[in-house]
Amino acid sequence: MTVAVSGASGFIGGGVARLLSEAGTDLRLLSRDPSRLPDLPHATAVQAGFGDAGLTDALRGVDTFFMVSATETEHRVDLHRAAVRAAADAGVRRIVYLSFVGAAPDCTFTFGRDHWHTEQAVRDTGLTFTFLRDNLYLDLMPGMVGADDVIRGPAGHGRAAMVARADVVEVAAAVLGSARHDDRTLDLTGPAALSLTDVADALTAALGRPIRYHRETLDEAYASRSDLGAQRWEVDGWVSSYAAIANGDLARVTRDVRHVLHRDPVGIGDVFPPLAEL
Ligand SMILES: NC(=O)c1ccc[n+]([C@@H]2O[C@H](COP(=O)([O-])OP(=O)(O)OC[C@H]3O[C@@H](n4cnc5c(N)ncnc54)[C@H](OP(=O)(O)O)[C@@H]3O)[C@@H](O)[C@H]2O)c1
Repeated sequence: MTVAVSGASGFIGGGVARLLSEAGTDLRLLSRDPSRLPDLPHATAVQAGFGDAGLTDALRGVDTFFMVSATETEHRVDLHRAAVRAAADAGVRRIVYLSFVGAAPDCTFTFGRDHWHTEQAVRDTGLTFTFLRDNLYLDLMPGMVGADDVIRGPAGHGRAAMVARADVVEVAAAVLGSARHDDRTLDLTGPAALSLTDVADALTAALGRPIRYHRETLDEAYASRSDLGAQRWEVDGWVSSYAAIANGDLARVTRDVRHVLHRDPVGIGDVFPPLAEL
């Protein structure tokens, strides 16, 4: 069985490729720039992006396609639809797609809407699927801290059940290696719903300097991001990720990581251990 992995130059696709390679799986690793791909046993590197005419050929002979959602762009959903079509045309049997919790056509988090439309495109093919709907990535939380050590956003007092990417990698590899999760949607979360004050407190303990969370209004959130040179769709995505926390869309803790890995997901104290414990 050959598994194709997109995003294999990145954290999740690359991590999954490493685990599958160690298990002896025949791999086809996709990248727009194969020089960025890891050099792994049992793996062939192929140059192909989601919108490329060559993607169908790149996926011929592949049984399962692990489709890592592309980096956000204004028209990402068109690229995703093209990739799903290419997989179906190539005769792929199963697509495992990296999605997002609460994906819906009208979800508050605007980037989450792309994921719903992509899931629909996959369902429309009639292929076997698994949707891995990830919560926010716990290990990326330091990226939310500004240069002034403040996390600013309109998240109110809301919570998110953030999940570590390392757990997502392990779950995806297990799902790809089995038929047990076929035609299922898994919501991948961490062990607890965290407020941004919880995140700030954990980073304070881990980094040894005070980090705090400042609750913005929606207007303040747009204003504080207005001089970053970003386009409106991008700012909408950033701001709405906090708004989704505020309205509880990301708060549900699930047992899906445990269901697949037979162990609990790692928590914020594991990802960012307090300095005192090191
Ligand atoms: N849940 C969250 O909190 C969260 C946060 C950030 C991102 N995400 C999503 O999760 C995905 C995986 O995360 P990650 O940490 O592994 O990201 P990453 O390390 O930044 O890797 C992103 C991968 O996407 C691939 N890619 C980008 N544009 C593409 C295109 N047009 N066609 C095909 N592949 C494309 C890149 O491959 P090449 O450049 O080599 O082609 C790269 O390997 C991200 O791409 C994003 O969609 C989720």
